[in-house]
Amino acid sequence: MAFPTETVYGLGADAFDPEAAKKAYAAKGRPSDNPLIVHIAKFEDLYRLTPVFEDEKEAEICALASKLAETFWPGPLTMIFPKRAEVPKETTGGLDTVAVRMPASKPTLELIEYSGTLLAGPSANLSGHPSPTCFRHVEEDLSGRIDGIIAGDDCEGGIESTVLDVRTMTILRPGLVTPEMIAAVTGKEVRYDKALFSKPSEDPNYHPMAPGQKYRHYAPKAEMRIVPRDRLMKRVEEERAKGRKVGYIERPEAKTFFAMLRKFDDEGTDVILASALPEGDSLSFSIMNRVLKSAGYNVEE
Ligand code: TXA
Ligand code: MG
Repeated sequence: MAFPTETVYGLGADAFDPEAAKKAYAAKGRPSDNPLIVHIAKFEDLYRLTPVFEDEKEAEICALASKLAETFWPGPLTMIFPKRAEVPKETTGGLDTVAVRMPASKPTLELIEYSGTLLAGPSANLSGHPSPTCFRHVEEDLSGRIDGIIAGDDCEGGIESTVLDVRTMTILRPGLVTPEMIAAVTGKEVRYDKALFSKPSEDPNYHPMAPGQKYRHYAPKAEMRIVPRDRLMKRVEEERAKGRKVGYIERPEAKTFFAMLRKFDDEGTDVILASALPEGDSLSFSIMNRVLKSAGYNVEE
C-alpha cells in the first residue's frame, strides 16, 4: 500500500515482518538491502523500535530526540537509533540501527494506527526513477505491482527527509530540516557526513554510513547536465541548434524538481540542463544533492 507524506510518497511494508521489505523492493523492481525508514504515528511508537528510552546511560540521546521530535515531528526529519531485536535485519538492511520518522500526512498517520504495526517505507517509485511527489507518479510506476495507493495531496516538501544520526549529530542525507535548524533546537554542533561531499563511485573503498547513498538515484531517461547559471540559456541554444529537444531548469526547487524530471521524460526531452544553485546555503545544498545524483554528477564548468 502506497501512502502520501509531506516529502514524497512511500510504499508501506510491515516493519516487523522480515518478508515485507523484500516484497516492497520486489514491487519497486529491484532486490535491495537498503535500510528502510520506519514510519510511526505517535512518539510512544518509538519505544517499540529502540530500547534507548529504558536505558539511563542513554539519557542524553533521549533528551535530544525528544526535543527534536517536539519541534520537527510530524515532519521531514528521520532519526537513527539502536534497534530492538524485534526489528528484523531485513528492515534495517542488516544494520543494528533503525531509522524512524513521523510523517505529516493525516491519512498516513491513520493508516499506521489502523495497521496495528509500524510501516517501513521506501519511496514509492520504480527503482532508479525520480521520487514520486504526487499520486499520479505512484500510479505511473507501480500500478498493477502493489495493492493500492492512498491518494492524498501532492507533496509539499518534494525531497526526502533529512536523515540524522542523533548519537553523532551527523546528517547522513540532507533535506528540508537543515543543520542550522537542528543546531538551534539542540544547542549542538551538527555536521554533514563527509560522503555527501564526494561523488559516490569515485572511491572504490568508500562505504557510506547511509548505504542507500551508493546507488544511482532519481535518474530521468533524458541525458542530464548541470551548467553554470550564467551559461544556461547559451547552452540551451547550443543544444537546440544540434536538433535536440531541450528541457531546462533555471532554479531547481525542492517541491517541483522530481516532478519536472518526470514531465521532461513524458515530453520526450533529449537533454535536461539544470543550473547549479549557489553554494553556501543549506537548503540549496539539500536540493543540489538530488540534482547531482539525477545528473549522475555530470557537471559542466
Ligand atoms: O522522506 C522520506 O524519508 C521518504 C518518505 C516515504 O518517508 N522515505 C525515503 O525512504 O526516502 P528511502 O527508503 O528511499 O530512503 C531510506 C534511506 C536509506 O537509503 C538511508 O540513506 C537512510 O534512509 N537510512 C535508513 N536506515 C538507516 C540506518 N539504520 N542508518 C543509516 N541510514 C539509514
Ligand atoms: Mg528512494
